[in-house]
Amino acid sequence: MQFFVDTAEIDDIRELASTGLLDGVTTNPSLIAKSGRDFMEVTKEICGIVDGPVSAEVVALDHETMMKEAEVLRKIADNVCIKVPLTMDGLKTCNALSRDGTMVNVTLCFSANQALLAAKAGATFVSPFVGRHDDNGTDGMDLIRDIRLIYDNYAFETEILVASVRHVVHVLEAARIGADVMTAPPKVIHALVKHVLTDKGIDGFMADWAKTGQSIL
Ligand code: G3P
Repeated sequence: MQFFVDTAEIDDIRELASTGLLDGVTTNPSLIAKSGRDFMEVTKEICGIVDGPVSAEVVALDHETMMKEAEVLRKIADNVCIKVPLTMDGLKTCNALSRDGTMVNVTLCFSANQALLAAKAGATFVSPFVGRHDDNGTDGMDLIRDIRLIYDNYAFETEILVASVRHVVHVLEAARIGADVMTAPPKVIHALVKHVLTDKGIDGFMADWAKTGQSIL
């Protein structure tokens, strides 16, 4: 499973990229606003840090303006992935951009039928929002299971990018289901490495090593 980080914070992206575990980055208008940075400038900077796809979202709601915005965004770098909303105009834009060889991430997906449309429109990625489903009282992971089943039924190549990931169990479930990608805030990715028995084990080994009075270097 590929790991994307869902943030526009440069320091967090650099730190995760240095681990070699990061495959891409997703941003959205809310994350850009939170960063306080200029959209074009910060997107260019992110594209220079990671080799993988960097999602940059259009903000127009009609097809013609989405295409104009996409034209500007895709000039930022070769690894820009244009993010469009799951609306009929977004799908039309996805179709046009995909035919042209541009990576597209169709976002704000909340149903399996929407994901089916995104695949038919040639999306590179579809982003189902699991956390917001959970917030609404429905199991977001059921949606991922349905999309996996449907995409496998028809051998769709659109990658399932699990988004709105809030905790480590979302990541575990996404991997169990066979999602292609998950995007999570930096704190969730950092939390994946933690286990109390790992910490306890290190403490024990360090204490015993100290008793030997030896050093490796
Ligand atoms: O990038 C979109 C998605 O990951 C947003 O997550 O936590 O705002 O629902 P959240």
